[in-house]
Amino acid sequence: MSRQAVLKRLLQSVPLIAPSMLKCDFGNLHRELELLESAGVPALHLDVMDGHFVPNLSYGPMVIERLRAMTELPFDAHLMISDPGRYLDDYLAAGCDCVTFHIEAVPEPGPILERIRRQGAVAGLALNPGTAVEAVRPYLPLCDLVLVMSVEPGFGGQKFQPVALDKLRRLRDWIGEGTLLSVDGGIGPSTIAETARAGAELFVVGSAIFDAPDYRDAVSELTSLVREACGTAAGHLVPPRMEH
Ligand code: DX5
Ligand code: ZN
Repeated sequence: MSRQAVLKRLLQSVPLIAPSMLKCDFGNLHRELELLESAGVPALHLDVMDGHFVPNLSYGPMVIERLRAMTELPFDAHLMISDPGRYLDDYLAAGCDCVTFHIEAVPEPGPILERIRRQGAVAGLALNPGTAVEAVRPYLPLCDLVLVMSVEPGFGGQKFQPVALDKLRRLRDWIGEGTLLSVDGGIGPSTIAETARAGAELFVVGSAIFDAPDYRDAVSELTSLVREACGTAAGHLVPPRMEH
């Protein structure tokens, strides 16, 4: 699918609950994909860690390429790696539809965002809890997605950091209609509503899906909490983007 088609599809189906595949059972990927697809998730969030930019290692393009052959779901890759420009083409070739890298990992994000777009993928920029939101502002016209980290990247299962809320609100005011606002880390039933009210529309969820007994119930509970938080009437979602 082209960048525009993926972006349109995602924007049209907000709120988006994207499972973080860091916490899935890698020994049984077929079953995990089956369960997630039947839970109706709109995309898979793929956490790539290099043991250098973050103190943990996950998986790389070879695993993503194999996953690509197993599902049609869009892939939202979150590169927590140093020097993302060097490895970018491998992730695009592996079939990532969206590629997000960290502003802290590069001296100049603009050319990498442009490369991602030029190669037909959705371009995303992520920022850590300790990074000021102003740092990403100059690059927003080049972003299709902005990812606000609500934990230090590297591990699932951490506690949500409220510093993300003000960043989401500021970004919501700054970004245009065609940009997705995403939040990642510690998102679950007790935190998702406040991030939705702050303007998030793509919610990355690890533990709150994979530790739940039933993925479908977990996804539908989280979706309902967002809908309630955004004041929906008669079951029709008023996307957060419409409120700001
Ligand atoms: C953290 C990752 C997240 C993480 C989310 O570095 O980017 O995607 O896996 O997991 P939870 O929802 O458990 O915080
Ligand atoms: Zn992530």
